[in-house]
Amino acid sequence: MLRVLTSASAALGPRAAGWVRTMASHQLLVAPPEVLRKPLSVPKRLLLGPGPSNLAPRVLATGSLQMIGHMHKEMYQIMDEIKQGIQYVFQTRNPLTLAVSGSGHCVLETALVNLLEPGDSFLAGVNGIWGQRAAEIGERVGKGEGKGWSIDVLYTGSQKCLNAPPGTSLISFSDKAKKKIYARKTKPYSFYMDVKWLANFWGCDDKPRTYHHTTPVTCLYALRESLALLAEQVREKGSAGCGRGAGRTEPWGGQMG
Ligand SMILES: Cc1ncc(COP(=O)(O)O)c(C=O)c1O
Repeated sequence: MLRVLTSASAALGPRAAGWVRTMASHQLLVAPPEVLRKPLSVPKRLLLGPGPSNLAPRVLATGSLQMIGHMHKEMYQIMDEIKQGIQYVFQTRNPLTLAVSGSGHCVLETALVNLLEPGDSFLAGVNGIWGQRAAEIGERVGKGEGKGWSIDVLYTGSQKCLNAPPGTSLISFSDKAKKKIYARKTKPYSFYMDVKWLANFWGCDDKPRTYHHTTPVTCLYALRESLALLAEQVREKGSAGCGRGAGRTEPWGGQMG
């Protein structure tokens, strides 16, 4: 085991190499897994479901770009570009528009935990598991029963239609929803999904950006690139991009066979 760790340290960067030395000098409870000695193996699959789907080569290429810090000014620039891409895809000028570091489920919860306070009325249209889950999240927040509430928030997972890898999601709140969020009497139960914090981190308020969490930097590169690709395709073809998943995959589906 010592030999494995020592030879691994040569291949890793200085930080990881130091950690490997520490690991090597201790009696470990769990040995390095043999399975991880094999190279990563991913089959070639043609994905034709609602998402994830096969990535366009230029979206795929973003996965090999080097890391930058989640609070570097260049990253903030990329986040600003993503925001504009989301406003374009959603066809909205809502200033409170951003990407959440989490899958579609995370952004569904983000919408509900920020908009609902205990005792609020909430109408969930249940015709499948997402309606059921929305109703259940509403119950967990402590909703009251009663009349409906109009739709003021729009979300989607990055893997839906956009052909970005899963792991980030897009959300936009109307000014009415924003007012409701900023006028809450109670804080949302989730710190991670607290839209006031997220809005600040995504530059949607007038305050200097402060750390909230470490964003999935490379997923955001890919999201930015898929938004750019969508805008480009719509510009070239004059079609109404979003919501036409099959149309989106067509240009590069052939190459992947
Ligand atoms: C309406 C809706 N909300 C949430 C989700 C959950 O998305 P994810 O699997 O990315 O968490 C889905 C997934 O299909 C969905 O259709």
